[in-house]
Amino acid sequence: MNNWQELENKYYMPTFKRVPVTLVKGQGARVWDENGRKYLDFVAGWAVNSLGHCHPAVVAAVTEQVKTLIHTSNSYYTIPQLKLAELLVHNSCLDKVFLCNSGAEATEGAVKLARRYGHLHLGGAYEVITTIGSFHGRTLAMVSASGQSKFQQPYIPLPSGFVNVEYNNIEAIEKAINGKTCAVMLEPVQGEGGVNLPDDNYLKRVQELCRQKVILLILDEIQTGISRTGSLFAYEQYGVEPDIMTLAKGLASGIPIGAILAKDGASVFAAGEHGSTFGGNPVACAAGYATLKFIINNGTTENARQMGQHLAAGLKSLKQRFKFVTDVRGLGLLQAMEFSSDIAQSLMIACLNGGLLVNKLKDNALRFMPPLIIGKDEVDEALGILDKALSNTKG
Ligand SMILES: Cc1ncc(COP(=O)(O)O)c(C=O)c1O
Repeated sequence: MNNWQELENKYYMPTFKRVPVTLVKGQGARVWDENGRKYLDFVAGWAVNSLGHCHPAVVAAVTEQVKTLIHTSNSYYTIPQLKLAELLVHNSCLDKVFLCNSGAEATEGAVKLARRYGHLHLGGAYEVITTIGSFHGRTLAMVSASGQSKFQQPYIPLPSGFVNVEYNNIEAIEKAINGKTCAVMLEPVQGEGGVNLPDDNYLKRVQELCRQKVILLILDEIQTGISRTGSLFAYEQYGVEPDIMTLAKGLASGIPIGAILAKDGASVFAAGEHGSTFGGNPVACAAGYATLKFIINNGTTENARQMGQHLAAGLKSLKQRFKFVTDVRGLGLLQAMEFSSDIAQSLMIACLNGGLLVNKLKDNALRFMPPLIIGKDEVDEALGILDKALSNTKG
């Protein structure tokens, strides 16, 4: 291991607080470190490896595409890009797609689209309302959009045009809307901010408000989309339809990709107004198409829903036994466990030592987001390892 840590110290910008493990191989819901030690992966690349590691459908699609056509410019039509766009439209409430390379690029593009809409239809309105605790990415504009001061403070002054208001507070959004507002942008469930669920009817009321004020609703489904929460998109469970939606993370099972989807009325980019060299690249799109097709044809969404319920029930029963577990919350296979003190780091290491990768969400919370293809035995195994870690903790 240690050579790699030394190499990192010497050559890599120290932006990540890494866990002391070098992963070299993955298969299904398992990964292996350089010493051959096996772990059950409940991080899944931060909710990315939807079909697990090296899924045969993804490997076959990528291999075939790499042998056929790796890249061309977007001056030309390419088949995987258009097949993926069609599949996304046929399975969502949106009508048009733009493909890019990451989540931040998708949300930034969604804000550009909303501003363009503001120019064309709202007298130049450009402001986007977002919520405190949200996370929309790491570009300067998305840091400004994300309502978390720890990401904003190091980069002041931030790009203007964003208003961060309290989450789950409809009046706060209503108050913030003015003649300059072109959109409200929300994660259906705040992921990085703490796996914070929307109150009953919050999203519905936000949608109503947006319709009433004739502004756009952007849903950032980068973490919640592609079946993570037990429906293909989280908006389905809340009875709303966004005007614009962003995707990334799980869409291509690990190959970098992002997507902006829009209803016809909100799809206002004209030729030359947005673009990307790599966005919609054939290899990424082949992986995205294979992932989505597999999910749709194999009941993977239903598996995520059922396994999410099983995981949540297991976590809740641990909460009953360990008094220092103060909360269990989540939707589908996006679950969090919160503690009365800052023990997440030591618990994460205890789980690691027991053979389970979990994500430290906050100093006092862990997050669980296994691949969507996870089985009941694997969930039980993870709960067993977590149980042991909790048993050895004072709390
Ligand atoms: C809801 C949400 N939006 C945007 C992003 C940014 O995605 P990326 O890291 O691919 O830029 C993330 C990443 O965690 C996210 O969870």
